[in-house]
Amino acid sequence: MNGLAISPFIAALPKVELHIHIEGTLQPALRWKLAQRNNVALKFRDQTYGTYEELLESYRVTYNHRPELGGRKDVPTFLEAYFAGCEVLLREDDFYDLAMAYLERCRAMNVRYVEPFFDIQAHTRRGVAAEHVLNGYLRAQHDGAAEYGVRSNWIFCFLRDEPVEDGEAAYRTAFPWARHRDGGGKGLFHAVGLASNAFERPPLLFQAAFARARADGLHTTTHCDFGQKDTHEHVRQAIFDVGIERIDHGLDVLERAELVAGLNERRIGLTLCPHAYHRRTATDVLFPKLRALLDRGVTFCINSDDPVYMHDVWIDGNMQKTYHYGGLSKAEMVQLARNAVDMCWADEGVKREIYAELDAVDVS
Ligand code: HPA
Ligand code: ZN
Repeated sequence: MNGLAISPFIAALPKVELHIHIEGTLQPALRWKLAQRNNVALKFRDQTYGTYEELLESYRVTYNHRPELGGRKDVPTFLEAYFAGCEVLLREDDFYDLAMAYLERCRAMNVRYVEPFFDIQAHTRRGVAAEHVLNGYLRAQHDGAAEYGVRSNWIFCFLRDEPVEDGEAAYRTAFPWARHRDGGGKGLFHAVGLASNAFERPPLLFQAAFARARADGLHTTTHCDFGQKDTHEHVRQAIFDVGIERIDHGLDVLERAELVAGLNERRIGLTLCPHAYHRRTATDVLFPKLRALLDRGVTFCINSDDPVYMHDVWIDGNMQKTYHYGGLSKAEMVQLARNAVDMCWADEGVKREIYAELDAVDVS
């Protein structure tokens, strides 16, 4: 991780993770194991990964280019690599094992509570039954809390580069697994979000889908990718037209005073993932932006996005980068951890427990 080691202070800090794609946590060893178990060939375009070493080598690439914005076309994009990884996930146990491996890792990193994104359409469009995905994650939600003490409420993501109607149909299929307003439902997910390629796919396209989820009593968030074409317009729509509660990324708001004001007036926080931006942004350009957000009173928290496809940098590595390159104090790092509790949609009892732990952190 750019030569940075996780310090004892960051390692011990009680954490809340609000921006992680569960499919982006599929580690190569488990991917290899599931490929064997399901008899799936590991390949990407014209390349086959015939050995575990070849598979491992494929993760060394920095997936930081955007062909649609003039970047290279001869190497996989980040999203292509991410969806290729999904191909070994077929049965309920595969989704369960993926999620349990992540929740076990949460315990090791002192992540107390997490709101993972899941991309059900990434699986159903390959012919996987929706209930395999949902039941696998649901079982892991229960067992991860019981065995590892890591509580979670999940976020259904619409794939924004697929037709809106497909996303709406996927939502209707998944709805029995939501936590319903009346206390019913299976309780897996309590929010909806917008993921995948944002290029010319603004949040407004999904306005009715978000309205439906809100009417069903669910929370709403959307990705507004850093450096994406039309990023300011996407943020504007998210705040003022769609009325979402959180923004995933959204770092470009600093260039528009009216967007900063909109976030602050509506108390909308950003779930930032510094290492994801650091892949394509110089240190002395990126980290002052975090300080600028603090100075302007924008609430944000530190998260990891897709650690396996981003050089194995997890939430602790993202916090370490923020602490080190951002020059933040221990008290400021605790405040960022507290922001995640403020921004999360956990039950009050869970929030209280984590606030109490944060209050006890030594910042001297
Ligand atoms: N950005 C957008 N969509 C995604 C990502 C991401 O980093 N990971 C999984 N879906
Ligand atoms: Zn993301």
